[in-house]
Amino acid sequence: MKAIRLRSPGGLDNLQLVDMESPKDPGPGEIRVRLHASSLNYHDYGVASRPGWQADGRIPMSDGAGVVEAVGTGVTDVATGDSVVSCFFPTWADGPATIADFATVPGDGVDGFAREAVTLPATAFTRAPKGFSHAEAATLTTAGLTAWRALVVDGGLKAGDTVLVLGTGGVSIFALQIAKAMGATVVVTSSSDEKLERVRGLGADHTINYRQDPEWGRRVWDWTGGRGVDHVIEVGGPGTLPQSIAAVRVGGHIALIGVLTGYAGPVPTGPFMLKQARLQGLIVGSRREQQDFVRGIEAIGLKPVIDRSFPLGDLAEAFRLQGSGAHFGKICLDIRA
Ligand SMILES: NC(=O)c1ccc[n+]([C@@H]2O[C@H](COP(=O)([O-])OP(=O)(O)OC[C@H]3O[C@@H](n4cnc5c(N)ncnc54)[C@H](OP(=O)(O)O)[C@@H]3O)[C@@H](O)[C@H]2O)c1
Repeated sequence: MKAIRLRSPGGLDNLQLVDMESPKDPGPGEIRVRLHASSLNYHDYGVASRPGWQADGRIPMSDGAGVVEAVGTGVTDVATGDSVVSCFFPTWADGPATIADFATVPGDGVDGFAREAVTLPATAFTRAPKGFSHAEAATLTTAGLTAWRALVVDGGLKAGDTVLVLGTGGVSIFALQIAKAMGATVVVTSSSDEKLERVRGLGADHTINYRQDPEWGRRVWDWTGGRGVDHVIEVGGPGTLPQSIAAVRVGGHIALIGVLTGYAGPVPTGPFMLKQARLQGLIVGSRREQQDFVRGIEAIGLKPVIDRSFPLGDLAEAFRLQGSGAHFGKICLDIRA
């Protein structure tokens, strides 16, 4: 079968399409999945593009979706022919987070889903939403579940809440869609007026170009009539956090998700304390939360926004699109059309 391996020392030019042995028959508790699609995340881009991050030969990609083609003994909750989607943390079944690294994450600490088939414990997957294509299902593992956890699990989102979404990448467009479907009012920032027009088409109530207006946090504050927003989808990190603190309401919630502007930097702790806000770091979520998310998607009728799909062998080209920031929503990989 075909797979992509990241050859040492890494970097996009070292993503290599290879032939490898097909996966073994599933043992007790395992399933073999014929993979049809994956989706690109900023995390996968980091793994593939930064020389020296990975040992020679890693199969990249955290997200995988496909069809169960064989089940081992003792597997009861999926059957041959079912559509499934992978879990970001295959060993985190339920309960509070206990994992603080990527050692168990497919495509980073262990081999991922840039391949045509895989045999893994059945608990490394959940069922996919009914009516979803494999590409749509593949967008849930990382970006979708992160947005769901930030707003619904950690944030306790309710109808009437206000949400600030930063940018128009994978996590952010999911956050916009979830928030709107659940009755929230949403403001979105972007570097592009054309993308802001597109988010208005998805229901965004207010938009701000963060390049043209560096004081966008203040503009959000004013837009809420001086109350501030209940939730912030903080995908930027140190470069955007001061403005997110300016935008959040007293007692509000900032979901600290991303590192788009770096991994460390000064935080205005005084203004943050005055806001008496909650800054909640998170990494994706548990299998239980993914199962809840799949049910939630079916109830609200959400459909992921896919910018473009690339064949497996064009993974480097797909990453170059992601690195350019020109995309809107998700970029996907068609493993088997
Ligand atoms: N903690 C977690 O569990 C978790 C899970 C998933 C992702 N993440 C992180 O979240 C971030 C986004 O991930 P993703 O996969 O959604 O990325 P992505 O699809 O590549 O999104 C990138 C988009 O972010 C926006 N952006 C870039 N710089 C920005 C800035 N300074 N201010 C506001 N928006 C900015 C841009 O939108 P415009 O073009 O509209 O300006 C860009 O298109 C990454 O740092 C990623 O590592 C974390």
